[in-house]
Amino acid sequence: MGQQPFVKNNIEIASDFARDTFQGLSAVPKYLKSKYFYDSEGDKLFQKIMALNEYYLTDCESEILNHQKDELMNFFRDSNTPFLLTELGAGDGQKTEILLHHFFNESVHFQYLPIDISSNVLNLLESKLSADFPGLKVKTYAGDYFQALDRLNKEENGRKVLLFLGSTIGNFEHREAVKFLQSLNKRMDDHDQLIIGFDLKKDPNVILRAYNDPSGFTAKFNLNLLHRINRELEGEFVTDNFYHQPTYDPSTGEAKSFLVSKIDQNVHIGKLNTTFGFKRGESIFTEISQKYDEVMIHNLAEKSGFQVKQIFYDSKKYFVDSLWQKSKKSIV
Ligand SMILES: C[S@@+](CC[C@H](N)C(=O)[O-])C[C@H]1O[C@@H](n2cnc3c(N)ncnc32)[C@H](O)[C@@H]1O
Repeated sequence: MGQQPFVKNNIEIASDFARDTFQGLSAVPKYLKSKYFYDSEGDKLFQKIMALNEYYLTDCESEILNHQKDELMNFFRDSNTPFLLTELGAGDGQKTEILLHHFFNESVHFQYLPIDISSNVLNLLESKLSADFPGLKVKTYAGDYFQALDRLNKEENGRKVLLFLGSTIGNFEHREAVKFLQSLNKRMDDHDQLIIGFDLKKDPNVILRAYNDPSGFTAKFNLNLLHRINRELEGEFVTDNFYHQPTYDPSTGEAKSFLVSKIDQNVHIGKLNTTFGFKRGESIFTEISQKYDEVMIHNLAEKSGFQVKQIFYDSKKYFVDSLWQKSKKSIV
Protein backbone atom coordinates (compact mmCIF):
# COMPACT_ATOMS: atom_id res chain seq x y z
CA MET A 1 0.00 0.00 0.00
CA GLY A 2 1.39 3.45 -0.89
CA GLN A 3 0.76 6.85 0.61
CA GLN A 4 -2.67 8.58 0.46
CA PRO A 5 -3.75 9.67 -3.04
CA PHE A 6 -3.33 13.38 -3.70
CA VAL A 7 -5.02 15.63 -6.22
CA LYS A 8 -3.05 17.51 -8.86
CA ASN A 9 -4.59 19.43 -11.78
CA ASN A 10 -7.96 17.86 -10.86
CA ILE A 11 -6.52 14.37 -11.31
CA GLU A 12 -6.30 11.98 -8.42
CA ILE A 13 -2.80 10.56 -8.46
CA ALA A 14 -3.34 7.21 -6.83
CA SER A 15 -0.34 5.06 -7.60
CA ASP A 16 3.11 5.41 -6.05
CA PHE A 17 4.61 5.36 -9.55
CA ALA A 18 2.40 8.28 -10.68
CA ARG A 19 3.10 10.29 -7.54
CA ASP A 20 6.87 9.69 -7.64
CA THR A 21 7.01 10.49 -11.36
CA PHE A 22 5.15 13.74 -10.81
CA GLN A 23 7.44 14.73 -7.93
CA GLY A 24 10.62 13.71 -9.74
CA LEU A 25 9.86 15.50 -13.00
CA SER A 26 8.69 18.63 -11.13
CA ALA A 27 11.91 18.81 -9.09
CA VAL A 28 14.99 20.87 -9.94
CA PRO A 29 17.09 19.07 -11.09
CA LYS A 30 14.75 16.37 -12.39
CA TYR A 31 15.01 12.75 -11.22
CA LEU A 32 13.17 9.42 -11.46
CA LYS A 33 13.43 6.69 -8.83
CA SER A 34 15.50 3.68 -9.90
CA LYS A 35 13.12 1.16 -8.31
CA TYR A 36 10.77 1.76 -11.26
CA PHE A 37 13.30 0.25 -13.69
CA TYR A 38 12.00 -3.17 -12.76
CA ASP A 39 8.83 -4.00 -14.66
CA SER A 40 8.70 -7.09 -16.92
CA GLU A 41 10.63 -5.28 -19.67
CA GLY A 42 13.20 -3.91 -17.18
CA ASP A 43 13.63 -7.35 -15.59
CA LYS A 44 14.51 -8.84 -19.00
CA LEU A 45 16.97 -6.06 -19.75
CA PHE A 46 18.59 -6.38 -16.34
CA GLN A 47 19.14 -10.12 -16.95
CA LYS A 48 20.89 -9.20 -20.22
CA ILE A 49 23.05 -6.65 -18.39
CA MET A 50 24.03 -9.23 -15.78
CA ALA A 51 25.25 -11.55 -18.53
CA LEU A 52 27.51 -8.90 -20.13
CA ASN A 53 31.30 -9.21 -19.81
CA GLU A 54 31.50 -5.52 -19.00
CA TYR A 55 29.14 -5.98 -16.03
CA TYR A 56 31.85 -7.59 -13.87
CA LEU A 57 29.69 -7.51 -10.73
CA THR A 58 27.88 -10.77 -11.56
CA ASP A 59 31.05 -12.83 -12.05
CA CYS A 60 32.76 -11.36 -9.00
CA GLU A 61 29.86 -12.02 -6.65
CA SER A 62 29.29 -15.51 -8.12
CA GLU A 63 32.96 -16.28 -7.48
CA ILE A 64 32.66 -15.14 -3.86
CA LEU A 65 29.54 -17.23 -3.23
CA ASN A 66 31.07 -20.27 -4.92
CA HIS A 67 34.26 -20.06 -2.88
CA GLN A 68 32.62 -19.17 0.41
CA LYS A 69 29.44 -21.26 0.30
CA ASP A 70 30.79 -23.69 2.89
CA GLU A 71 31.96 -20.99 5.27
CA LEU A 72 28.67 -19.14 4.86
CA MET A 73 26.75 -22.33 5.56
CA ASN A 74 28.71 -22.76 8.81
CA PHE A 75 27.95 -19.17 9.83
CA PHE A 76 24.24 -19.61 9.12
CA ARG A 77 23.74 -23.10 10.48
CA ASP A 78 24.00 -22.32 14.19
CA SER A 79 23.68 -25.88 15.60
CA ASN A 80 21.47 -26.81 12.67
CA THR A 81 18.42 -24.88 13.92
CA PRO A 82 16.21 -23.89 10.98
CA PHE A 83 16.48 -20.38 9.53
CA LEU A 84 14.62 -18.19 7.09
CA LEU A 85 16.86 -17.27 4.17
CA THR A 86 15.23 -13.95 3.33
CA GLU A 87 16.45 -12.15 0.24
CA LEU A 88 15.85 -8.43 -0.32
CA GLY A 89 15.52 -7.54 -4.01
CA ALA A 90 16.10 -11.15 -5.08
CA GLY A 91 15.69 -10.54 -8.81
CA ASP A 92 16.10 -13.75 -10.78
CA GLY A 93 18.05 -15.34 -7.90
CA GLN A 94 20.76 -16.52 -10.27
CA LYS A 95 23.64 -16.06 -7.80
CA THR A 96 21.56 -17.12 -4.81
CA GLU A 97 21.06 -20.48 -6.50
CA ILE A 98 24.74 -21.19 -5.73
CA LEU A 99 23.87 -21.10 -2.01
CA LEU A 100 20.48 -22.78 -2.41
CA HIS A 101 22.09 -25.64 -4.28
CA HIS A 102 24.78 -26.13 -1.65
CA PHE A 103 22.46 -25.83 1.34
CA PHE A 104 19.94 -28.15 -0.29
CA ASN A 105 22.61 -30.81 -0.97
CA GLU A 106 23.93 -30.48 2.58
CA SER A 107 20.41 -30.96 4.03
CA VAL A 108 20.52 -27.61 5.81
CA HIS A 109 17.20 -26.73 7.49
CA PHE A 110 16.07 -23.52 5.90
CA GLN A 111 13.24 -21.90 4.03
CA TYR A 112 13.82 -19.43 1.17
CA LEU A 113 11.80 -16.19 1.24
CA PRO A 114 12.62 -13.90 -1.68
CA ILE A 115 11.27 -10.32 -1.61
CA ASP A 116 11.11 -8.14 -4.72
CA ILE A 117 9.16 -5.13 -5.94
CA SER A 118 8.69 -6.94 -9.27
CA SER A 119 6.05 -9.66 -8.98
CA ASN A 120 7.00 -10.64 -12.53
CA VAL A 121 10.55 -11.60 -11.53
CA LEU A 122 9.30 -13.43 -8.41
CA ASN A 123 6.94 -15.57 -10.50
CA LEU A 124 9.81 -16.53 -12.81
CA LEU A 125 12.02 -17.31 -9.82
CA GLU A 126 9.37 -19.43 -8.13
CA SER A 127 8.77 -21.59 -11.19
CA LYS A 128 12.52 -21.99 -11.80
CA LEU A 129 13.10 -23.08 -8.20
CA SER A 130 10.23 -25.54 -8.10
CA ALA A 131 11.70 -27.20 -11.21
CA ASP A 132 15.33 -27.12 -9.97
CA PHE A 133 14.76 -27.87 -6.27
CA PRO A 134 11.59 -29.91 -5.78
CA GLY A 135 10.95 -30.00 -2.05
CA LEU A 136 12.65 -26.68 -1.25
CA LYS A 137 10.32 -24.51 0.84
CA VAL A 138 9.91 -21.20 -1.01
CA LYS A 139 7.50 -18.37 -0.24
CA THR A 140 7.68 -15.15 -2.24
CA TYR A 141 6.84 -11.64 -1.05
CA ALA A 142 6.10 -8.99 -3.70
CA GLY A 143 6.43 -5.38 -2.64
CA ASP A 144 8.70 -2.63 -1.45
CA TYR A 145 11.40 -3.93 0.93
CA PHE A 146 9.89 -2.95 4.26
CA GLN A 147 6.21 -3.52 3.43
CA ALA A 148 7.19 -7.02 2.35
CA LEU A 149 9.54 -7.59 5.29
CA ASP A 150 6.93 -6.44 7.81
CA ARG A 151 4.41 -8.84 6.29
CA LEU A 152 6.97 -11.64 6.40
CA ASN A 153 7.86 -10.88 10.03
CA LYS A 154 4.15 -11.14 10.93
CA GLU A 155 3.70 -14.43 9.09
CA GLU A 156 6.96 -16.23 9.89
CA ASN A 157 8.74 -16.88 13.17
CA GLY A 158 12.35 -17.82 13.33
CA ARG A 159 15.93 -16.80 12.92
CA LYS A 160 16.55 -14.77 9.79
CA VAL A 161 19.52 -14.75 7.48
CA LEU A 162 19.05 -11.74 5.23
CA LEU A 163 20.68 -11.55 1.81
CA PHE A 164 21.08 -8.19 0.12
CA LEU A 165 23.22 -9.05 -2.89
CA GLY A 166 24.22 -7.46 -6.19
CA SER A 167 25.39 -4.18 -4.63
CA THR A 168 21.77 -3.03 -4.53
CA ILE A 169 22.74 -1.00 -1.41
CA GLY A 170 24.74 1.13 -3.87
CA ASN A 171 21.43 2.33 -5.33
CA PHE A 172 20.94 4.45 -2.21
CA GLU A 173 22.68 7.77 -1.59
CA HIS A 174 24.72 7.70 1.63
CA ARG A 175 22.09 9.24 3.93
CA GLU A 176 19.34 7.06 2.49
CA ALA A 177 21.55 3.98 2.84
CA VAL A 178 22.04 4.73 6.54
CA LYS A 179 18.29 5.25 7.01
CA PHE A 180 17.53 2.08 5.07
CA LEU A 181 19.97 -0.01 7.10
CA GLN A 182 18.77 1.46 10.39
CA SER A 183 15.21 0.47 9.45
CA LEU A 184 16.45 -2.99 8.55
CA ASN A 185 18.31 -3.20 11.86
CA LYS A 186 15.06 -2.47 13.76
CA ARG A 187 13.38 -5.39 11.99
CA MET A 188 16.16 -7.83 12.93
CA ASP A 189 16.84 -9.76 16.14
CA ASP A 190 20.26 -10.08 17.76
CA HIS A 191 20.88 -13.55 16.38
CA ASP A 192 19.85 -12.64 12.81
CA GLN A 193 22.56 -12.19 10.17
CA LEU A 194 22.85 -9.99 7.11
CA ILE A 195 24.96 -10.63 4.02
CA ILE A 196 25.40 -7.49 2.05
CA GLY A 197 27.17 -7.02 -1.29
CA PHE A 198 29.28 -3.92 -2.05
CA ASP A 199 30.92 -2.99 -5.31
CA LEU A 200 34.35 -1.52 -4.65
CA LYS A 201 36.15 1.55 -6.00
CA LYS A 202 38.45 0.55 -8.84
CA ASP A 203 39.78 1.74 -12.21
CA PRO A 204 37.19 4.32 -13.32
CA ASN A 205 37.29 2.96 -16.87
CA VAL A 206 36.24 -0.49 -15.70
CA ILE A 207 33.33 1.06 -13.81
CA LEU A 208 32.23 3.31 -16.66
CA ARG A 209 32.27 0.40 -19.13
CA ALA A 210 29.97 -1.56 -16.82
CA TYR A 211 27.34 1.19 -17.13
CA ASN A 212 27.88 1.95 -20.81
CA ASP A 213 28.12 -1.37 -22.60
CA PRO A 214 28.67 -1.24 -26.37
CA SER A 215 25.65 -3.48 -27.01
CA GLY A 216 23.46 -0.74 -25.51
CA PHE A 217 21.52 -2.81 -22.96
CA THR A 218 22.24 -0.36 -20.13
CA ALA A 219 21.01 2.50 -22.29
CA LYS A 220 17.82 0.54 -23.08
CA PHE A 221 17.38 -0.28 -19.39
CA ASN A 222 17.64 3.41 -18.49
CA LEU A 223 15.31 4.51 -21.31
CA ASN A 224 12.81 1.85 -20.20
CA LEU A 225 11.80 4.28 -17.45
CA LEU A 226 10.39 6.61 -20.12
CA HIS A 227 8.75 3.70 -21.95
CA ARG A 228 7.18 2.64 -18.66
CA ILE A 229 5.78 6.13 -18.13
CA ASN A 230 4.36 5.93 -21.68
CA ARG A 231 2.86 2.48 -21.01
CA GLU A 232 1.44 3.03 -17.54
CA LEU A 233 0.84 6.76 -17.22
CA GLU A 234 -0.18 7.70 -20.78
CA GLY A 235 3.15 9.46 -21.27
CA GLU A 236 4.08 10.85 -24.66
CA PHE A 237 7.87 10.59 -24.46
CA VAL A 238 9.63 10.22 -27.81
CA THR A 239 12.42 8.16 -26.32
CA ASP A 240 14.79 8.81 -29.27
CA ASN A 241 14.88 12.40 -28.05
CA PHE A 242 16.82 11.33 -24.93
CA TYR A 243 20.14 9.53 -24.46
CA HIS A 244 21.75 7.55 -21.65
CA GLN A 245 24.67 9.28 -19.89
CA PRO A 246 26.70 7.48 -17.20
CA THR A 247 29.25 9.31 -15.03
CA TYR A 248 31.75 8.20 -12.39
CA ASP A 249 33.48 10.35 -9.79
CA PRO A 250 36.47 8.38 -8.46
CA SER A 251 36.89 10.69 -5.46
CA THR A 252 33.44 9.95 -4.03
CA GLY A 253 32.86 6.55 -5.66
CA GLU A 254 29.54 7.76 -7.10
CA ALA A 255 28.58 6.19 -10.43
CA LYS A 256 25.43 7.89 -11.72
CA SER A 257 23.14 7.42 -14.67
CA PHE A 258 21.19 10.18 -16.36
CA LEU A 259 18.81 10.58 -19.28
CA VAL A 260 19.65 13.71 -21.22
CA SER A 261 17.29 15.61 -23.51
CA LYS A 262 18.66 16.01 -27.06
CA ILE A 263 16.37 18.95 -27.86
CA ASP A 264 14.10 21.55 -26.26
CA GLN A 265 10.83 19.68 -25.88
CA ASN A 266 7.55 19.41 -23.99
CA VAL A 267 6.20 16.04 -22.95
CA HIS A 268 2.62 15.48 -21.84
CA ILE A 269 1.81 12.74 -19.33
CA GLY A 270 -1.92 11.99 -19.55
CA LYS A 271 -2.44 10.37 -16.16
CA LEU A 272 -0.67 13.28 -14.46
CA ASN A 273 -2.60 15.82 -16.57
CA THR A 274 0.69 17.71 -16.82
CA THR A 275 3.14 18.75 -19.51
CA PHE A 276 6.81 18.81 -18.52
CA GLY A 277 9.37 20.99 -20.32
CA PHE A 278 12.92 19.78 -21.06
CA LYS A 279 15.72 22.02 -22.31
CA ARG A 280 18.33 20.65 -24.71
CA GLY A 281 21.09 19.13 -22.53
CA GLU A 282 18.84 18.97 -19.44
CA SER A 283 19.20 15.77 -17.45
CA ILE A 284 16.98 13.43 -15.48
CA PHE A 285 18.97 11.67 -12.74
CA THR A 286 17.88 8.03 -12.72
CA GLU A 287 20.30 5.92 -10.67
CA ILE A 288 23.24 5.98 -8.32
CA SER A 289 25.53 2.94 -8.06
CA GLN A 290 27.78 3.87 -5.16
CA LYS A 291 31.25 2.27 -5.06
CA TYR A 292 32.79 1.65 -1.64
CA ASP A 293 36.07 0.99 0.12
CA GLU A 294 36.53 -0.91 3.37
CA VAL A 295 36.53 2.22 5.52
CA MET A 296 33.20 3.32 4.00
CA ILE A 297 31.72 -0.13 4.64
CA HIS A 298 32.73 -0.11 8.32
CA ASN A 299 31.47 3.44 8.67
CA LEU A 300 28.10 2.53 7.14
CA ALA A 301 27.77 -0.50 9.42
CA GLU A 302 28.60 1.51 12.53
CA LYS A 303 26.21 4.34 11.68
CA SER A 304 23.36 1.91 11.12
CA GLY A 305 23.87 -0.17 14.27
CA PHE A 306 25.74 -3.16 12.83
CA GLN A 307 29.14 -4.72 13.26
CA VAL A 308 31.05 -6.26 10.38
CA LYS A 309 31.81 -9.88 11.23
CA GLN A 310 33.56 -10.92 8.04
CA ILE A 311 34.42 -9.56 4.60
CA PHE A 312 34.77 -11.88 1.59
CA TYR A 313 36.59 -10.60 -1.51
CA ASP A 314 36.69 -11.94 -5.06
CA SER A 315 40.13 -12.66 -6.52
CA LYS A 316 40.33 -9.28 -8.35
CA LYS A 317 39.23 -7.39 -5.22
CA TYR A 318 36.48 -5.73 -7.26
CA PHE A 319 33.58 -6.71 -5.00
CA VAL A 320 32.84 -7.87 -1.46
CA ASP A 321 30.09 -9.71 0.32
CA SER A 322 30.20 -8.87 4.00
CA LEU A 323 28.55 -10.53 6.96
CA TRP A 324 26.94 -8.19 9.48
CA GLN A 325 25.19 -8.63 12.79
CA LYS A 326 23.44 -6.14 15.02
CA SER A 327 25.95 -4.32 17.14
CA LYS A 328 25.62 -4.39 20.92
CA LYS A 329 25.89 -0.60 20.93
CA SER A 330 22.65 1.31 20.30
CA ILE A 331 22.29 3.33 17.09
CA VAL A 332 23.45 6.95 17.40
C1 LIG B 1 20.32 -4.50 -8.85
S1 LIG B 1 19.02 -5.68 -8.89
C2 LIG B 1 19.79 -7.01 -8.01
C3 LIG B 1 19.10 -8.32 -8.18
C4 LIG B 1 19.76 -9.51 -7.45
N1 LIG B 1 19.78 -9.32 -6.01
C5 LIG B 1 21.18 -9.72 -7.94
O1 LIG B 1 22.11 -9.55 -7.16
O2 LIG B 1 21.34 -10.06 -9.11
C6 LIG B 1 17.89 -5.01 -7.71
C7 LIG B 1 16.64 -5.85 -7.46
O3 LIG B 1 15.95 -5.22 -6.37
C8 LIG B 1 14.58 -5.05 -6.71
N2 LIG B 1 14.16 -3.79 -6.07
C9 LIG B 1 14.52 -2.53 -6.40
N3 LIG B 1 13.95 -1.63 -5.57
C10 LIG B 1 13.20 -2.35 -4.70
C11 LIG B 1 12.37 -2.00 -3.61
N4 LIG B 1 12.20 -0.73 -3.25
N5 LIG B 1 11.75 -3.00 -2.91
C12 LIG B 1 11.92 -4.31 -3.28
N6 LIG B 1 12.70 -4.70 -4.31
C13 LIG B 1 13.33 -3.74 -5.01
C14 LIG B 1 14.53 -5.00 -8.23
O4 LIG B 1 13.29 -5.40 -8.75
C15 LIG B 1 15.68 -5.93 -8.61
O5 LIG B 1 15.22 -7.25 -8.80
